Amino acid sequence: MTSHEGRSLIVVTGATGNIGRSLVGRLLADGAAVRALTRDPARAGLPAGAETVGADLTGADDLASLLAGADALFLNLAAGGEQAATAVLDAAVRAGVRRVVLNSSMAVTDTPADDTHFIARLHAGLERAVRDSGLEWTFVRGGNYATNALAWAPSIRESGVVREAHPGAQGVPVHEADLADVAAVALLDRSGAHLGKAYVVTGPERMTLARQVAEIAAATGREIRVEQISEEEAAEAMSGRYLTREAALELVRMFGRTVDAPPFPVSDAVERVTGRPGRTFARWARDHAADFS
Ligand SMILES: NC(=O)c1ccc[n+]([C@@H]2O[C@H](COP(=O)([O-])OP(=O)(O)OC[C@H]3O[C@@H](n4cnc5c(N)ncnc54)[C@H](OP(=O)(O)O)[C@@H]3O)[C@@H](O)[C@H]2O)c1
Repeated sequence: MTSHEGRSLIVVTGATGNIGRSLVGRLLADGAAVRALTRDPARAGLPAGAETVGADLTGADDLASLLAGADALFLNLAAGGEQAATAVLDAAVRAGVRRVVLNSSMAVTDTPADDTHFIARLHAGLERAVRDSGLEWTFVRGGNYATNALAWAPSIRESGVVREAHPGAQGVPVHEADLADVAAVALLDRSGAHLGKAYVVTGPERMTLARQVAEIAAATGREIRVEQISEEEAAEAMSGRYLTREAALELVRMFGRTVDAPPFPVSDAVERVTGRPGRTFARWARDHAADFS
């Protein structure tokens, strides 16, 4: 890798997000220089050690200057969507960035099924663009983010209730800090061991949504009741600017199928890549207790 005042310079998209904020801290702790991208540097609250730069990646910002001098890029689809991610990737190639770590999804399976589900299709398309870019790459195929439980925070705070269509739905929730740690290792690695790898990253244990609620109750000391609602009501509550009602219903039905059939195995990628076991959901709930109080 080249250097920025003697250190690798990593550009982090979505730097104030769940993964991004954790990643910025981790990269700085590992001695890297970090250019953290956010639409609003004044409100970002990122560490002073990072170079925090304002950029709306869906707008006409000067992408070349955002990537100038960088060694590697953490690319997150959440930072402006598909077109923005593709534009940042192209700009990275033009700027001479060597490596990209893509925040992808375990929905991508490298089978024809990738064309049938919208989440897989979206991430698989971006993976293809990365493979075709000629850059060194690593994919972090996470899924079932523990942070999805933050959607319960308003109703827990207001009434101590979680409303779900399928409280028995099973998942393997992963802590954002583990996704960030895997990404950091891949971004900074000098051995080449992580190049061309697509890591399926899960949490360390399978559990139902009801059990996640119980862990949040334990971490916050609150009594939390789970109320079962219809799939249609759940889809209505989930849909919004980025998710149509139809897509939300597809997701709710997909969760429903996991009640009887666990969707994916527990992966040991966090431990293999970082050398440390993945953080439990109980730990996540303690880390986020303030969000539910
Ligand atoms: N949830 C899951 O279970 C799951 C599973 C598999 C994959 N994923 C992937 O993970 C992604 C979410 O990652 P995350 O949780 O770290 O994201 P996040 O917390 O939603 O953070 C996204 C960040 O992107 C920034 N951003 C938004 N719009 C932008 C724009 N127009 N220009 C520049 N920056 C913009 C925002 O920062 P500012 O407001 O500071 O600009 C925001 O903090 C999903 O999009 C998906 O691709 C999620």
